[in-house]
Amino acid sequence: MSDPRSDHTTADVLYASDLHGHTGLYRELFETAWRLRVRALILGGDLAPHTDVATQRRFYEEVLVPLLREYRSKPGAAEIFHIPGNDDWKASLPPLLDAGLGGTHAIHGRVVPFLEYGWVAGLASVPITPFAMKDWDRWEEGLAAAAKMEGFRSEPDGGLRAYTFRGRERRESLAAELEALERELPSTEEPLICVFHGPPYGTALDQIARGVHVGSRESRRFLERRHPVLGLHGHIHESPAVSGRFAERLGATICVNAGQRMGSALHAVWFRLDDIAGSLTHSLLGRAGLDAGVRPG
Ligand SMILES: [Fe+2]
Repeated sequence: MSDPRSDHTTADVLYASDLHGHTGLYRELFETAWRLRVRALILGGDLAPHTDVATQRRFYEEVLVPLLREYRSKPGAAEIFHIPGNDDWKASLPPLLDAGLGGTHAIHGRVVPFLEYGWVAGLASVPITPFAMKDWDRWEEGLAAAAKMEGFRSEPDGGLRAYTFRGRERRESLAAELEALERELPSTEEPLICVFHGPPYGTALDQIARGVHVGSRESRRFLERRHPVLGLHGHIHESPAVSGRFAERLGATICVNAGQRMGSALHAVWFRLDDIAGSLTHSLLGRAGLDAGVRPG
């Protein structure tokens, strides 16, 4: 098998998620973005280390923002698009959001222009997890039995308050957030890329041990009714190792979860916008093996 890293010259977009504050992985990501000369770098959530609000804030101030600033200072650096994930306290984000970094776009809950290609929509929210951090957990029908209804949300002052979904499930629903995002979509035929931290349910991209699916049914419904060209996901780090695949077609949409393993080399994907299926490559797993599809004329 050829070394997937030798195919470095023709990518437009680099995508990774779930770097969880690992400085070495971020360095590798920015080096890869530079080497590939990509035009866009997308971060799909779980940016910061798994820790408290104050320490996450320091990570943005002292590590991620300086790395972004250094990378963006190079001529020809890519535009950057990012969302948080369920492991990123909402109250820790201001140092990143208010850093005034040029060409760097926070896209959670937003739809923004993507290069001269089309649009990109972002959503950090995931179905209620088995974990205590609840800033980005949202209710949906058919939650896993392990979903934990009680936990904590962060306050702007950095404190945490106890939070429970009981009695307010539908006010905190993923369906409502996705409908709100849908209302932001432009009524044009230009291609759409969705960056949703949670992968669609029932695919190769949302599997934990023994192949159990834990993805989002609502994300899947959104992708199936809006048919973006691409869905970029994360959250379930082990899914590519469990399912053996990091990309899968869902109707007209190519969905990706690059996965991530701490202590390993960077898990990331890159691709060309004029032939996503034919060019989609993983940093460790090589080509996606999707058929090339129909190229634009
Ligand atoms: Fe993660």
